[in-house]
Amino acid sequence: MRHSAHNTLVHSSDPFPTRIFITGQWEIDLLSDTIRCSPEVDEIFGQTRSYFSWRLNAALNRFVSEDRSSVRDELEQARSTGSIEFEKRIRRVGDGALRWVHVKGYTSYADGKPVRMAGEVIDVTEWRLSEDRRRDTEKMEAIRRLCRRLSHDYNNLLMVINANLEMLNEQAEHSPKALRFFTAARDGVDRGAQLNHKLSVFAAPREDSNETVNIGHLLLSLERPLRDAVGEAIEVRLIPGAIGESCKADAQELKAAILSLAINAREAMVTGGVLTISTLHRRITKDFAQTLGIAPGDYLVVSVSDSGVGIGPDIAARVFEPLFTTKRGGTAKGLGLSQVYGFARQSGGFVTIESELSHGTTIFLHLPLSPTMSSTAYL
Ligand SMILES: Nc1ncnc2c1ncn2[C@@H]1O[C@H](COP(=O)(O)OP(=O)(O)OP(=O)(O)O)[C@@H](O)[C@H]1O
Ligand SMILES: [Mg+2]
Repeated sequence: MRHSAHNTLVHSSDPFPTRIFITGQWEIDLLSDTIRCSPEVDEIFGQTRSYFSWRLNAALNRFVSEDRSSVRDELEQARSTGSIEFEKRIRRVGDGALRWVHVKGYTSYADGKPVRMAGEVIDVTEWRLSEDRRRDTEKMEAIRRLCRRLSHDYNNLLMVINANLEMLNEQAEHSPKALRFFTAARDGVDRGAQLNHKLSVFAAPREDSNETVNIGHLLLSLERPLRDAVGEAIEVRLIPGAIGESCKADAQELKAAILSLAINAREAMVTGGVLTISTLHRRITKDFAQTLGIAPGDYLVVSVSDSGVGIGPDIAARVFEPLFTTKRGGTAKGLGLSQVYGFARQSGGFVTIESELSHGTTIFLHLPLSPTMSSTAYL
């Protein structure tokens, strides 16, 4: 996973593990700063056996830059405290995936001087993610229920105001001043209705879509609007997967979701960058599906990736909440990602985010693969 401190819906590049915990042994010779480790450590770090014995600095460089200095501090302190234990993120060699590792060990001394540290390292990514996902899903579903209720009541209020305004309409026409007040009030009702529509998309209950969307065609039709939306400073790369890939979703809502993600990407790349939209298949296992409250099965993943400023851990934990925005002074309402979230849930799918400060952000929109296609997808 790229970053995820508080890992809301932030997931690994490979969220479908075959092994939940991999544990390896390590040993640091503090006099030469050399590490020896078991093959499992290589597996966790994604490196070949040539790293059987490596330098401490090389190991530190595997940790993401945000975490590196605190790992260094932990190691330093363990020289005097005698023990070490922390959970930090590494970037795996090869596939570049960000993973959580739990490191634990003890220091040995000779003549009162620290000479050796040894212990184990466990890749705890999947465990953390499933726990985080379960908690995040529960939180978001509670917010959705609340919004559903609010949006319903709010809509009723708007209808009452609107009905009364309609009755005033004729009288207002005879007085320019009254007409101005009437128009301002009606504009307010219209804006309220738009806001409520966005909230209701977020809060909408699950519905089985009868529509099958060919994602390749949909992305092609979006090419021009996407380029227009992000401007010339941003390169747009569209990488649709296999020809004929289809998912079950409302095509218009899906287009709106991708455009909204592209606009967020643009706002994260003010001096230009690359926006990449690609698709892939994922098979979601029963255990993993349970943590997300969705059905196990085959999903089409539309990933929207930017090379922008990235999102810090605290903010990443909140981005899907309705009305959450960090954009001040503009028209941003903080409803873009919550709509994408609601659309995904309504379609029987889900959405996750992967981000690293200064490196960029990827949103993974998972939608149920169209049944007619799922049989051919794995041929
Ligand atoms: N691609 C991205 N890169 C960096 N930060 C992002 C990205 N996408 C979303 N965010 C963060 O998530 C917040 C919420 O995004 P969301 O799309 O829901 O609302 P918004 O863009 O602020 O407003 P609106 O979409 O209603 O115009 C943003 O304010 C921003 O802080
Ligand atoms: Mg937005």
